[in-house]
Amino acid sequence: MTDLLISPQDQERPTGPFLVPDRLGRAALRALAAHSLEVIQAGQAQSGALIACPTFSVYRYSWLRDGSFCAHALDRIGQPGRSAAFFRWIGRTLAQQEAKVQKALDRYQAGEQLAAADFLNTRYTLDGKEETGDIEWWNFQLDGYGTWVWALGEHLRRSPDEKLREELRPAVELTARYLSAFWQLPNYDCWEENLNDVHPATLAAIYGGLVAAFKLYPDSPVCQAAKKEASAIRRLVKARGLNQGSLVKSFGREDVDASLLGAGVPYGLLPVRGKIMKTTLDRIASELVAPDGGVYRYLKDVYYGGGEWLLLTGWLGWYYAGSGQRGKAHECLQWIARQALPNGDMPEQVAHHLLAPEHRQPWEERWGLSASPLLWSHAMYLILYTTLYGEGHI
Ligand code: BGC
Repeated sequence: MTDLLISPQDQERPTGPFLVPDRLGRAALRALAAHSLEVIQAGQAQSGALIACPTFSVYRYSWLRDGSFCAHALDRIGQPGRSAAFFRWIGRTLAQQEAKVQKALDRYQAGEQLAAADFLNTRYTLDGKEETGDIEWWNFQLDGYGTWVWALGEHLRRSPDEKLREELRPAVELTARYLSAFWQLPNYDCWEENLNDVHPATLAAIYGGLVAAFKLYPDSPVCQAAKKEASAIRRLVKARGLNQGSLVKSFGREDVDASLLGAGVPYGLLPVRGKIMKTTLDRIASELVAPDGGVYRYLKDVYYGGGEWLLLTGWLGWYYAGSGQRGKAHECLQWIARQALPNGDMPEQVAHHLLAPEHRQPWEERWGLSASPLLWSHAMYLILYTTLYGEGHI
């Protein structure tokens, strides 16, 4: 991206009623869940788009990845109207991208070399447009396109709605054609890094989306073909994405990334309690969990000094709950809750045990404080909260 210098955020952190003790009782956890819902609702535009973070300048867009997890959280707490509005926003947004996708597919088939800008964007303005102006974002990322279809599948499973399903058929088919054609290409990972690598975590999200596409529209030839691609993804990850029995961050690397949890929960690329995921989980738990229980992205992370991410700690808890380790899942929920600011807002990350502390000051001089409230942090809190305490309402 361009070397955009923005003025630092308001350095004052908000005050409020949430004084967080070491161990939170059920009422305090519930209050944070209620606040999380409010934050996500407040971050939804009239259009249905969900902003990544309302106070952090470069996050004032709607990401397919972040928004889909927020929509899933809304589904879990009985707000299907809100999540449907997000999916409809995606449907309208992608309808405007059809010509771009067709052109990329045609050129690719003709053997032409495509540039990153020829692919779909990773985020859109709240009214569903590609951003214009001087920001050049790390746009070629495929995972969010898998994630939204996975989330739509979860939505319609919980809240069957034939009208919505038919309304979104063109957007899902467009996405399925796009992902089926391009999944093997290197693209930015979910942290918007490493353009030249192929990432098993990204492939897992694509897998989840393609399988969901087929389940949603089994009669669609495009979605039938997508299912075959999904099987090919699994084969390739098993052939090239492992090191000593564990998934790796990217093909050819040996380290792990916490986003690999997605290969088990929620995308189901590999069995949650199977050998590969168990080995991967063990590595993530032993290498990427800080002394206080928060989760890093990967060991060499220097962004913001390499902090602990609330959303990843929620993800780890979600995984633990899915593999029958509920005690550990509760610890993850407690840890996230302890990171809430006095007004209940949850930041992207915290700096208690930075991996690369020398990078923090230059980061803060450039960007300000860690983005807060980050809607995706709140979404993962809600997903874990509802996993542990039940879906439906707070
Ligand atoms: C993260 C992405 C995220 C985006 C918006 C970036 O810093 O790396 O994963 O989608 O912020 O929250």
